[in-house]
Amino acid sequence: MRRSGRNAPRLKPAAGVLGAWVLIAPAAAAGQAGGAAGFERGLELYENHCALCHQSSGEGNPPTFPALNGNDRLADSVGIVRNIYRGAGTMPPFPDLGVEDISALANYVRDAWENDFPEVTADDVAAALEGLDDAGGTVSVWDGVFTEVQANRGQAAYTGACAICHGRRLNGAPDDPDMRSTPPLARAAFLREWDGRSLAALFEYTRATMPEDNPNSLTDPEYVDVIAYMLSVGGMPAGPDALPTDPQRLSRIAIGPQP
Ligand code: HEC
Ligand code: HEC
Repeated sequence: MRRSGRNAPRLKPAAGVLGAWVLIAPAAAAGQAGGAAGFERGLELYENHCALCHQSSGEGNPPTFPALNGNDRLADSVGIVRNIYRGAGTMPPFPDLGVEDISALANYVRDAWENDFPEVTADDVAAALEGLDDAGGTVSVWDGVFTEVQANRGQAAYTGACAICHGRRLNGAPDDPDMRSTPPLARAAFLREWDGRSLAALFEYTRATMPEDNPNSLTDPEYVDVIAYMLSVGGMPAGPDALPTDPQRLSRIAIGPQP
């Protein structure tokens, strides 16, 4: 199962796991690229944004999500930087991460676990990103990012493909009492789990892994319709424009609590 990484505690500066890390940091991180502080920042960013698919252990969930541990392709620092910023294939883009954060992340994945590649400085990141367009600002899931018609379509798709496991009320209590419980897909507990991620991460994770017994079996428009329905059940308002299927545009919509 993929559970380990996804259920690892989300690291906050004072969180237990990071605290434990700090204790061992002086010895373990002595030779880490970017120094201990950069490595910790990279670890925190990794747990919040990347462990969902690549796991805390870096083992991923091949072939759906590639392993980063022991992956020779991580030698290509320019490739990693662009991968994070723009996404690739079904890897979501992270256009909101700044140069320092991308540097911390690139250093973390290149130096964590068994990996041992040299440092990527903030200047290296800036050079790798030069010429890539910056599509601008970010909105929130509370800004009216889907239409009512879309959410209604999503309800029908959800009922057919998801409710059997996630429940009619999207609370994780399956409609079929013989099925085990699943994570909730709306409201406070869902928002806590996904806080700080983008709709691109939710879209890519969902279409690559769900329905659990038949991943990628809906069309892209159906997946975003279901996400629109999940947001509407969570109390987010509909707006004039439908949620797009383009991961670049979805990466500009942040999941978070009601402002
Ligand atoms: C929603 C799932 C998901 C998330 C979240 C995610 N990735 Fe990925 N990642 C993928 C997939 C899928 C690929 C393979 C992409 C492809 O098809 O080329 C990938 C590829 C990569 C690669 C290239 C590996 C290779 O073998 O070429 C790197 C490096 C990487 N991801 C780093 C990260 C980092 C760092 C983060 C966090 C900022 C992250 N990923 C977040 C799904 C994800
Ligand atoms: C056969 C049962 C099953 C079906 C059908 C199913 N899921 Fe899931 N889903 C799961 C399980 C089990 C998990 C927990 C996976 C894990 O932790 O590795 C999960 C996790 C998720 C998550 C991650 C939630 C979180 O916060 O961790 C999302 C999002 C999701 N499912 C969406 C969907 C959508 C959308 C559909 C319909 C298109 C769907 N699922 C259909 C069983 C199912």
